[in-house]
Order: sequence, then C-alpha cells, then structure tokens
Amino acid sequence: MKNVKTFFIKTYGCQMNELDTDVMAGMLKNRGLFQVADENDADLLIFNTCSIRDLAERKAMGKIGRLGRMKNRDAVIGVTGCMANAKKESLFNKLPHIDFVLGTNNIHDLNNVLDDVLATKTQINRTDGRFEHEIDYLGASREDKVKAHVSIIRGCDKFCTYCVVPYTRGPEVSRSPQSILEEVKQLTQNGYKEITLLGQNVNSYGKDTPETNCLFHDLLYQLDKIPGLERIRFMTSHPIDISTELMTAVRDLPSLCEFVHFPLQSGSARILRKMHRMYNPEQYMEKVLQFKEIHPAVVLGTDIIVGFPTETDEEFEMTFNAVKEIRYGVGFFFAYSPRKGTPAIRWQDDISEEVKQVRLQRLSKLQDEISKEQRSDMLDTTVEVLVEKISIKEDHMLKGRTRCWKNVIFPGTPDLIGTLQRVRIHSYSHQTLIGKIVN
Ligand code: 5AD
Ligand code: SF4
Repeated sequence: MKNVKTFFIKTYGCQMNELDTDVMAGMLKNRGLFQVADENDADLLIFNTCSIRDLAERKAMGKIGRLGRMKNRDAVIGVTGCMANAKKESLFNKLPHIDFVLGTNNIHDLNNVLDDVLATKTQINRTDGRFEHEIDYLGASREDKVKAHVSIIRGCDKFCTYCVVPYTRGPEVSRSPQSILEEVKQLTQNGYKEITLLGQNVNSYGKDTPETNCLFHDLLYQLDKIPGLERIRFMTSHPIDISTELMTAVRDLPSLCEFVHFPLQSGSARILRKMHRMYNPEQYMEKVLQFKEIHPAVVLGTDIIVGFPTETDEEFEMTFNAVKEIRYGVGFFFAYSPRKGTPAIRWQDDISEEVKQVRLQRLSKLQDEISKEQRSDMLDTTVEVLVEKISIKEDHMLKGRTRCWKNVIFPGTPDLIGTLQRVRIHSYSHQTLIGKIVN
C-alpha cells in the first residue's frame, strides 16, 4: 500500500450523500490530500453508495467489483453511504479488495479509519456511530459557489414498509439550531445565495430535541432573518408532518421558496396503508387544498412508487388520476424495488417488470404534458431567477432557476453569476424556459 496523497470520491444517490461527500472531501483536504477527477490518478478511492433501490446498489457493486479485477491497483478503497450500513462487514466477502467500510453516521471518523487502515493494513468496518454533532459541516468542500446544502436532521423514524432509510441512516437526530444558524451565516458571508435544508423528513426537525424549543417552522423564521440569504428550500417532507405553521411560513417568509416536495407515493388508500404512509388520499388532498388556500402560488413536487406488491391496474389508475388532478411542478417516479430488511420484503414482488415499466412511462408522459403546459403558461411573464452558471449547451447564455425550480436560460455575462435577475420568458424548449433579462 503506497503513501496516500490524492483521493477520488464517487457519489451515488441523494443530496444527503452529496453533502456527506463534500464533508469527507473537506476532511481529506484538511489532512493535506488533493482531490482528483480521474480515479486512475487517486491513491484513495471512496464510493459513497446508495441502497434505496436495487439498481443503485448494483451500479456501485459493479463498479467496485471491476476495480478489484484490475490487478495493478494498489490504491486504498473505502465504501461509505447507505450500502455500508446495509451490508456492513459482509461487504468484505463480496468485495475482498476493499480496505474499509464506513457508515453514514461515522463519516466524522474517516481520517482515523484511514490512519488505522494504513498502520495495520487490515480491513476495517466502522458502521455503528451516531455523532451528528461531530460532523464538520463548516469544513465541507463545496464545488457550487451559489447554492449550498445544509443538513438539519439525519435519519428517519417513519418506517414506510418499502424503505431502507430508517435502517441505514438510523433514527431521527436533529442538529442544534445554533450550529445550523452558524453554518448558514457563514455560507451567506461567503457569498452563497440559496440554501437547501436537508433531511429525510425535515418536518420532524426539533421533535427529538424538545429542550431547544425549536421546531422546523421556528428554524425557518430564524433563518429568514439572515442578511444576504436570498432563498431557502427544503428536502424532503412527509405529508403527515406538513403543518399549518409551515404552510403559513411558506406564504410569509420572503426567502422561503414556494416550491414544496410533498411525496404522495400512491393514490390508493389500500396501497398507502400497506406502505404505512399514515394518510389516505382524502387526507392528502385536504392538505394540498389547505396549502393552496393559504398560499395559492405554491407549487408541489412528488415521489411515486409504481408496482408496489399487489397494486392492481385500478389502484394504479387512482395514482395516475391524482397526479393528473394535483398538477405537480416536478414528479419523480420509481418502480418498486424489494429491499432486504424492510417489512415489504415479506410480500412477493408480484408486479412484473413490464407492467411496472408501462405504469412508469404513463406517469412520465403525463408529467411531461403537465410540465409543458406549465412552461407554456409562463410565456410573457417575468420571473425571478438566481443566476447559477454559464449554460454548457448554449453559447453566451446563463442558466438559473426560478423560485419554483424551473430551469431558465437567457443571454448574459458571467459577472451576473450569483445575482438575482428578473427574466422575461419568451419561449421554451424541452425542459427549459428561455428568456431575456429585464430591468
Ligand atoms: N423501491 C422504489 N422506490 C423507493 N423509494 C424508496 N424506497 C423505494 C423502493 N424500495 C422512493 C420513494 C422515496 C424516494 C426517495 O425513493 O418514492 O420517496
Ligand atoms: Fe423512507 Fe418513508 Fe422515511 Fe421517506 S419517510 S425516508 S420514504 S421511511
């Protein structure tokens, strides 16, 4: 094993994993290592994995397995993320060439584990910690200079029957309001204009720490006061915990974007019960209508799973009709994937892959039509855009997003990156609005 000077991290999965990657990159850079973009140049390779669906796991296993077959590699290889927690030391049987397995709640220990691997030349599994307060978020190495992710709560206590997250990321642990406020203040001082508060269920924030007397909406009111912070977003929410206070905060706080991820998962009461979602379609719709009444401009996003065990054609139609009726701004649609260790594994995965794919395609087509109509409705309107970067596809064009997460491109110069601009929309292409800055 050679001296470790350079590292490469490959990230799979969700925004929390991306943030964990930034935190680990920061720790390694502090230690004096250089990050490289080509894995062949790296002395240390980290695979920050995802277990949410089988495909995500297979991708990472395939990639790491192929590295093992390359005989000339003497790099240190570590597996982090949800697959580390799901498989723990059993990963050493499947991938004998890897050096360490580090759990999602152990990332603060990365440098110690690396030291131990280098000193002992043995395989190390560390997957049982829970030290949220020790994670060095302030040291995170972020590539984006305009938008930043900020973790506010880790883990999940909801136990939806299909989901591995409560097992891989453990129970809900809220970060202290002081620590979050300190990080967001520092980010805004460093020029960041938009933050996305992250958690598997941000709406549970503060429920595990009654001593701080700070629930999610309380935190939002405090963050909104930070000078220079233009936009606050959050990901993701469980509908059951979306409170009237939160809806009011979305209406009243200038920096809080009126785009809320509100995952339905299914439009059938029976399937929702089987998923242990704790609401039925009527209760969900009631909340949607209440939200639209409190703040008519709110735009909702959703996640849907198709082909959950025993889902009939009629039950899928209920989901399809709900998506048609609610008219989400963004929809993420997934084919059910049985996960080891979850309650749903006891039910046979009885919906064929073909049927799942047909259901997925119908939802995607429907959402495409809805999104197209929404883009068409925006023609000749003026929207606020946070300028994020130079468009990679079009010359002399900048790219940004509206408050409701729509992509916009428009002519402009790079000095505008990081500013808010008013853009008049004159046309649109497949996923993007096209406009011109107005003064
Ligand atoms: N199969 C398919 N999709 C899943 N999701 C979570 N677990 C599974 C699974 N086993 C989806 C849910 C969740 C999103 C992040 O991933 O829709 O909201
Ligand atoms: Fe998984 Fe349900 Fe928790 Fe979301 S709320 S992370 S779907 S268990």
